[in-house]
Amino acid sequence: MAVSGGIAAYKSAELVRLLRKKGADVRVVMTRSALQFISPLTFQALSGNPVHTELLDAEAENAMGHINLARWADKIVIAPATADTIAKLSHGLADDLLSTLCLAATCPVYVAPAMNQAMWHKPVTQDNVKRLIAYGITMIGPGQGEQACGETGYGRMSEPAEICERLWAEPAAPYLHGRKVLISAGPTREPLDPVRYITNRSSGKMGYALARAALKAGARVTLVSGPVALAPPANADVIRVETAAQMHEAVISRAEAHDIYIGAAAVADYTPVAVQPEKIKKQDEQTTITLQKTRDILAEVAQLARRPFTVGFAAETHDLETYALGKLTTKKLDMIAANWVGRDHVGFDSEQNALQVFWADGRQTLSMTGKLHLAEQLISLIAKRYDEKNTA
Ligand code: C5P
Repeated sequence: MAVSGGIAAYKSAELVRLLRKKGADVRVVMTRSALQFISPLTFQALSGNPVHTELLDAEAENAMGHINLARWADKIVIAPATADTIAKLSHGLADDLLSTLCLAATCPVYVAPAMNQAMWHKPVTQDNVKRLIAYGITMIGPGQGEQACGETGYGRMSEPAEICERLWAEPAAPYLHGRKVLISAGPTREPLDPVRYITNRSSGKMGYALARAALKAGARVTLVSGPVALAPPANADVIRVETAAQMHEAVISRAEAHDIYIGAAAVADYTPVAVQPEKIKKQDEQTTITLQKTRDILAEVAQLARRPFTVGFAAETHDLETYALGKLTTKKLDMIAANWVGRDHVGFDSEQNALQVFWADGRQTLSMTGKLHLAEQLISLIAKRYDEKNTA
């Protein structure tokens, strides 16, 4: 639990008590300003552990208290999180123990804001909160009501009992903890000449949502991304590529070092045989471009000597099940997630999607929902199948 400097810090003492009662092992980190509101002795007595306040901890064996704590924690909750703390985390600043710990953390992070209602409603704070959510951090509250400053509105820290319940409702241990997951996402661009290229409608949203869901499940994530207009998930190792050939190289060279590969990219199936060094001039009424088949990254990953658990996607406009099952077998995949494209509001570039997931001896339908929620369900299914395969 990380405590930043707000009057609601007194409520955090109760949160420690409730978490201990549930059986949690709690370690408390306090910012300098939190120390002005409540004594570390209170948290030490309630948690039964020493309280951490300094970034450079001479007592830690390797003088890297933030790394040790980040590795130790299954979950981090910041309560109260001040407007300043939220601003810092949303921009990746790391100038004290709390912010550095959060940057180093691979476990789920929860933020319980507490501030004056005008500060909460300021567009800059709201933008910062949106950034945190986009980076995979979960917000708890704030609540509405009377504030310590005498005003009324949103900004009160959620009650300790509510925060405790929220933390407890999530799975105790992330189910991909320590697993390495490689994900490819987005479209590729196949250049024709210095100014033109062939691409497709993939937005990368599903692949990025999968990266976030895998991180939330405790995995270490490498994201090989084609050109997209999305903020990269915090804590993922992002490798940017443009062409199918670059994506092939980036994925194949890393795949054997990962436990799971999810091919969510819309890789170009064909690329121009030659890139013209100069801009192609318009001349005839009709023209022809000769295309060459690209290498199938997914199928090649599945052929590797130390292949990861391999998951493919199938975007189809018709005969979804037949084509998906065909790809599962011919590409020798462990699992395939199929979805309709070319229909209203689903598939490429939409916020929502639905999936039919197939594996050798089973299938599951994941019905229409937001891509992040869908990604969480798919990651959970992948984790289950991965465990079954590796304990069989
Ligand atoms: O055969 P099809 O392109 O429909 O298969 C889709 C799946 O194959 C997706 O998971 C996609 O990422 C992957 N793929 C690939 N390399 C290609 C073409 C598709 O990895 N060259």
